[in-house]
Amino acid sequence: MPLSKPNITPRQIAFITALLLALPESIFLLWLQHNWQWALLAFTLVFGISYWIIATLLEEFINRKIKLIYKFIHKTKATKKEETYYKYVLPAKTIEQVSQDVEEWANENEKEMQLLRQNEQFRREFLQNLSHEFRTPIFAIQGYVETLLDGAINDAQVNRRYLENASRNIDRLTNLLNDLDQISKLERGELVLARQPFVIQELVKEVFESVGEKAQQQHMQCQIKKDAESPLTVVADKEKIRQVLLNLVENAIKYGKTHGTITASMYRTDGQHVLVEITDDGMGIPEKELSRVFERFYRTEEGRSRDGKGAGLGLAICKHIIEAHGETIHIRSTEQVGTTIGFTLSTK
Ligand SMILES: Nc1ncnc2c1ncn2[C@@H]1O[C@H](COP(=O)(O)OP(=O)(O)OP(=O)(O)O)[C@@H](O)[C@H]1O
Ligand SMILES: [Mg+2]
Repeated sequence: MPLSKPNITPRQIAFITALLLALPESIFLLWLQHNWQWALLAFTLVFGISYWIIATLLEEFINRKIKLIYKFIHKTKATKKEETYYKYVLPAKTIEQVSQDVEEWANENEKEMQLLRQNEQFRREFLQNLSHEFRTPIFAIQGYVETLLDGAINDAQVNRRYLENASRNIDRLTNLLNDLDQISKLERGELVLARQPFVIQELVKEVFESVGEKAQQQHMQCQIKKDAESPLTVVADKEKIRQVLLNLVENAIKYGKTHGTITASMYRTDGQHVLVEITDDGMGIPEKELSRVFERFYRTEEGRSRDGKGAGLGLAICKHIIEAHGETIHIRSTEQVGTTIGFTLSTK
């Protein structure tokens, strides 16, 4: 609420009070002595002196209170610089300016509070997601181990399969822990990049080879776009970029369609950057969820039902890695048509 009603100034108060003191006193003198010169002199003296005293005291008083407010706002013991500020700059501020400063301060505090509240909500969601992600594989392991202990261990038909299933869930837990470890390192800014020049097409081919079997199971074809085959050298942390590409291609397989195609394309943009895009023709992502897929643990409803094993950390890690390079990552998608995720890399 703006506090901008016209205020009476300390000088006006001093003026009125001095006038109230001087006027009756000089009229009384005039009535007593019938000498208008004496009366005028008395008026001038009383008015002048009381105006000066009242104005000075009042301003002193107000400024002392204002200083207190500013000290409170800045939450500091006054430094040398601030002392100078209080002494010379502050008295020049009008009450209106001070109230504006206080308002700005209040707004800023409100913003800070909102951020704290949001962080609190974020922390709560994070813990909830975390326990959810851990619960599923742990319950599965518990189930297999208990069944084995209850006698299935002697059943040659199932014992090995149960152990393999338990082991797969242990792998899932280990991957989850590795992802979490990495994400917290990235968020603390502890990632040290080992930049080196390499040809991006070669790295993409290596990634395609490493997922070859998974792609074949879905009868998917991985290819580099026809006009993007001439080698482009980029300078980046090759292993980290491999991880980004791997997650993007694995996503394209998981959320793509059988007999679909995954296409990698690379373009030189402005002479200093290369744009790398991974495109699939799969289920796509609803528009309202697009901006959220880079959040940690975020998974779309349909994504979750398609693949029960993901944790929703892959894209969050990709974004961190690309941003640690000082580059950007973005996504375009249309439901039932497909998804393209692109990121830039530097050529120098
Ligand atoms: N190519 C894609 N097509 C459709 N949806 C996608 C695609 N890539 C990502 N998504 C959606 O975004 C979500 C987040 O992706 P992300 O890679 O972060 O997690 P994930 O693949 O589910 O799990 P993780 O990578 O941790 O194993 C996915 O769960 C899915 O809903
Ligand atoms: Mg993923």
